[in-house]
Amino acid sequence: MSHTLPDGFSLVEGIPEDRYPEWLGCWLTTLATPTDPDPAIVDFHRQVYPPERAIAIQDKHGYGATNTSLDCDLVLPGGATVPAALCTGGSCHPTLTRRGLMTIMLDRVYRRAAEEEKALCADSPSEWPIYQRFGHGPAVWYEYAEIDVRRAGLRDDVPGAGIRPRRVTGKEAQETAQGVYALHAAATPGEVIPPAAFWDRLSTEPSSPALETTLSLSGPGGGPRHCAAIENRGFVSYRITPGWTAEQAPNGVLKVIDFLAADSETAGALWRYLFSIDMIGEIHVRRLPMDDPLRWWVTDARWMRNLRRDGLWLRLLDVPRTLEARAWSADGVLTIRVHDARGYAAGTYRLEVDSGVGVCRRTTAEHDLEMDVSTLGAIVLGGTSASGVHRGGRLHARDPRHVRLWDVMATPERAPFVSYLL
Ligand SMILES: CC(C)(COP(=O)(O)OP(=O)(O)OC[C@H]1O[C@@H](n2cnc3c(N)ncnc32)[C@H](O)[C@@H]1OP(=O)(O)O)[C@@H](O)C(=O)NCCC(=O)NCCS
Repeated sequence: MSHTLPDGFSLVEGIPEDRYPEWLGCWLTTLATPTDPDPAIVDFHRQVYPPERAIAIQDKHGYGATNTSLDCDLVLPGGATVPAALCTGGSCHPTLTRRGLMTIMLDRVYRRAAEEEKALCADSPSEWPIYQRFGHGPAVWYEYAEIDVRRAGLRDDVPGAGIRPRRVTGKEAQETAQGVYALHAAATPGEVIPPAAFWDRLSTEPSSPALETTLSLSGPGGGPRHCAAIENRGFVSYRITPGWTAEQAPNGVLKVIDFLAADSETAGALWRYLFSIDMIGEIHVRRLPMDDPLRWWVTDARWMRNLRRDGLWLRLLDVPRTLEARAWSADGVLTIRVHDARGYAAGTYRLEVDSGVGVCRRTTAEHDLEMDVSTLGAIVLGGTSASGVHRGGRLHARDPRHVRLWDVMATPERAPFVSYLL
């Protein structure tokens, strides 16, 4: 599991300004994202993924592998936050893979996170099999949705009738989105609050199609971005790809980029607006919460094609701090044994919840539940069912009622959700 650097390679922590484009190029090309010479693209990344936190492994040819971790806060059930290290930027040139370079960088990332007293690490892996061995588990799920606008239709009783959004651009779009996100995130477990610079994408005028793609967080193609807001409580941004049927009937596709609402009435009003835009056949939504009311607001939900996807993965470092910071939905006592090959979270813990508040201490008592740290990461927010994981053989229980008790205690009022995966 532990690796040493091959001869001729060295680890770099903190990337010099002048080599940042090289670092970014190394990362993005392994994800098959062409790097663009447009300095505005490099600049956007520099602000969101700062060079001083970036890590690389280099040889005489330059950077061959990259990683980084951002300073973020994770919203827990109940609205409290814990400091998190958001692991991203992982890459290794195909000529250098499977020699342990990513492992070396991740071990540095975990050590740094522990030194910085982060409660946990969060990430959104490119491929499912990579991160479980490092102790991460899928905690937040969402649905990708493609909606046939005309056949799904919206019911008349959707909230927000008569509320019409206003057009916003530039600084106003940026500030409104950031403000609405803060209101939304305060009530949404699973949100990882992005760095402030992330919102600059809404005030930056794209000077090239590549920059437009980067800033709209979507694939290439599509018209310019539109932004609309409802007071300081709702914000939506989207791009339209025009389309026509063989009969010349309009059949455009509207891709939602940001959908942020502080309450149900505002969310309903934003959906009313999107469904009312002329010449649109389909709306594609990158991310919908698992318990989103939209499927109850359309007249026929079978014309929404939904794909369940894993979003945020969590890796706990400090178990008591995380379990004590979250609110619990029911009271109870459970003793949990956690295995962690890297040591950070290993141990047996007694969790006692009274009036929704948890107290968690190490213990030598016999455990009720036993799991790897990656399983604890998956179930800790209540967005992944412990009963399902138990049936899948990844969690062991002295008595199956203990698993049920965890689910009753851990399942929050609102399904965990994450708006942005950085
Ligand atoms: C994923 C990637 C960074 C791995 O880098 P690497 O230096 O080869 O990783 P390591 O050699 O440290 O591998 C660590 C372990 O993970 C496994 N692993 C790595 N990548 C894997 C993959 N894509 N699928 C399955 N297992 C993988 C290795 O087999 C190894 O397992 P072991 O510890 O049991 O031997 C590299 O393959 C890459 O750049 N891929 C394309 C971009 C990408 O997916 N980035 C990740 C963003 S989340």
